[in-house]
Amino acid sequence: MTSFSNGTRRVERVRRALLFVPGDDLKKINKAAGLGVDSLILDMEDGAALNRKTEARTTIAQALRTIDFGRSERLARINPLESGWGLDDLNIVLPAHPDGIVVPKVETEEQVQEVSLFITQFEKREGMPEGGIRLLIFVETAKGVINLRQIAGSDPRLDGIMFGGEDLVGSLGAVRTKPGWEIFYARSALVTYAAAFGLQAIDTIYADLHDIPGLIEDSRLAQQMGYTGKLAIHPRQVEPITEVFTPSDEAIAAARRLSEAFQTHQSSGAGVFELDGKMVDMPMLRAAERVLARARAAGKV
Ligand code: COA
Ligand code: MG
Repeated sequence: MTSFSNGTRRVERVRRALLFVPGDDLKKINKAAGLGVDSLILDMEDGAALNRKTEARTTIAQALRTIDFGRSERLARINPLESGWGLDDLNIVLPAHPDGIVVPKVETEEQVQEVSLFITQFEKREGMPEGGIRLLIFVETAKGVINLRQIAGSDPRLDGIMFGGEDLVGSLGAVRTKPGWEIFYARSALVTYAAAFGLQAIDTIYADLHDIPGLIEDSRLAQQMGYTGKLAIHPRQVEPITEVFTPSDEAIAAARRLSEAFQTHQSSGAGVFELDGKMVDMPMLRAAERVLARARAAGKV
C-alpha cells in the first residue's frame, strides 16, 4: 500500500459533496441526476425502510441502466454484511454497473476484503478491468474507530472512508450536540488514518436541513481538519458544501504567490523567509501545493 507522510492523497477522483438519495425513490433519483453533484449515493441501507429493501435494490438497478447521471459519480450503498442482505444487494446492483460501492458500519479489515473480493469475482466474470469499481466505507461505530489502522490499510480498491457521526453517537451512548465534542476524537482519528494511507476522508452529514450557515461552518471545520468532502442529504446542501471544498480564487492566488516567492528564495539560498509579516518555510510550501492540487482536481487551474 502506497502511503504519503505529507498528506498527499493517492485518489484522483474529486468528491466534494456526496448526496444521499433513498434508493427506493425513483423521483428523487431522477432529480439528483440533474444536480451536477460530484457523487451520488443511491442508498439501500438506512435511507430505505425495512419493508422497502427489495424495492430499493431493483429501483437502483433500473435507475443505473436507464438514467443519464451526467458527470456525477454513481455510488450504491449496500446493507452491512452482518444484516444478511449485503451480498444480495451486490448481486442485484453490480450487473447494472455502478461506479462504486459504499459499505456501512465497517468494523474490521476482513469486512472490506470480503466485499472487495466479491467485486473482483464479478469483474473477472464480466471481463471488466480489475479494481475499476471503487470502494468507499463508513466507519461509524466504536469498534470501527479502534480498528481504523487495519481498516484504512485493508484493500487497494478502497478510495475513502466516510464518517458517520449520528451512528457513532448511538454506538458510544453519547448525546449528539451542535458543538460536536462527543464525536471529536473519532472525527480527528478518521481523517488522520485516511491521510496516512492516502485515502479520502468524507465528513458526516449535517442533519439540520434548513440551517445553511451552520452547514457551511461545519463544512469549513471539516475542511480545515483535512477532510476532502462531506455528505449531503438534501439538494440545497450540495452547493454550499461543494464551495467550501473548492479553493477560492483568493486562496489559489495566495498559494501561487507563496510558491513563487519560495522558488525565488530557494535559488538565492534561503530556506526560510518572510512574506506579508509571516515566516514561510517548507511546511507552508507543502500546504500551498495542496491548495493548488485541490484546485486542479476541481478543474479550477
Ligand atoms: N435527493 C434527491 N432529491 C431530493 C432529496 C435527495 N436526498 N431530498 C429532497 N429531494 C427533492 C424532493 O423530492 C423535492 O423534489 P421536487 O421539488 O421535485 O418535488 C425537492 O428536493 C425538495 O425537497 P423537500 O420537499 O424540501 O424535502 P422532502 O420532504 O421531499 O424530503 C428528506 C426531505 C429529508 C426526506 C429528504 O431530503 C431525504 O430523503 N434525504 C436523504 C435522507 C437519507 O438518505 N438518509 C440516509 C442517510 S443519512
Ligand atoms: Mg450510518
